[in-house]
Amino acid sequence: MFPQVRMRRLRSGKIRDMVRETALTVNDLIYPMFVDETIDSMQEVSSMPGVYKLPPEKVADDAKDAADLGIPAVILFGIPAKKDETGTSAWGDEDVVQRAVREIKSQLGKDMVIITDLCLCEYTTHGHCGVVDYDSEEILNDPTLPLLGKTAVSHSKAGADIVAPSGMMDGMIGAIRSALDENKFYNVPIMSYAAKYSSAFYGPFRDAAESSYSFGDRSSYQMDPANSDEAIREVELDIQEGADILMVKPALPYLDILYRIKTEFEMPTAAYNVSGEYAMIKAAAQNGWLDEKKVVYESLLSIKRAGADMILTYFAKDLAQILEEM
Ligand code: PBG
Repeated sequence: MFPQVRMRRLRSGKIRDMVRETALTVNDLIYPMFVDETIDSMQEVSSMPGVYKLPPEKVADDAKDAADLGIPAVILFGIPAKKDETGTSAWGDEDVVQRAVREIKSQLGKDMVIITDLCLCEYTTHGHCGVVDYDSEEILNDPTLPLLGKTAVSHSKAGADIVAPSGMMDGMIGAIRSALDENKFYNVPIMSYAAKYSSAFYGPFRDAAESSYSFGDRSSYQMDPANSDEAIREVELDIQEGADILMVKPALPYLDILYRIKTEFEMPTAAYNVSGEYAMIKAAAQNGWLDEKKVVYESLLSIKRAGADMILTYFAKDLAQILEEM
């Protein structure tokens, strides 16, 4: 008890550094990139200042900048020229993501881990993550699974190192694992968006990826923000189906979920610091209300402390620079 115990003794100078429990490193980061085959020069996303959509020919340069900063991985989102009801542009060998993967692979080889977001919402006219029955406005689960399997195989064929299904269809991890294995891609890991919440924090992303839905919302497949036990169940099922890495999304409002999952399963765990989390900090910083660099560092450090082994963040390049300056 005080006065024998004084917590402040360890809080100054080098001693403060020595007792630090969590260290954020550039190795923790995954840099999200938007590849758009409808543009021929880079285009800033209006609700995400500092984030750009890139044509497929330009992605390798940006990935190289990330690699030069020491960032080990990117995750790719595609914006196709053609959308249709089932999202056929998701799985063609010459489609936008497949082209981007090959561009980055051919220029960076093993210096960059390429993760591909695996979902149909950017490729469908209705913007939902699965096949739709228009009469009932139902997002059909089972007919979506083979399409995801096919897409995973096409990404792997192009050279993707990890596939990351984000559509929250039941059974998708098992279906993707089988499709990959049947095509001899048994060494391609699956990073599952296992606990993905139906969140308003994805707003700016939907501008960027042009993936807003034409009716309803995503609440029939994405999780209720009120639930925590359900996240455990989702993760448990994904592990049984063969997931290698488990993701929680969004990150900051769901650190309790992240902590629970890391503690309970002791598996490689990722957290997605989503577009809305990015936009809030940017907007406040632009108004002079927050110190951007300090807030970025503190936010991402907190995500790591809560249990993330990897953080997907639009601040990846900024943080790499902040860490260098520190
Ligand atoms: C696609 C997908 C979304 C995000 C990642 N993959 C959007 C959604 O589910 O509506 C959101 C990422 C972000 O907000 O940064 N299923």
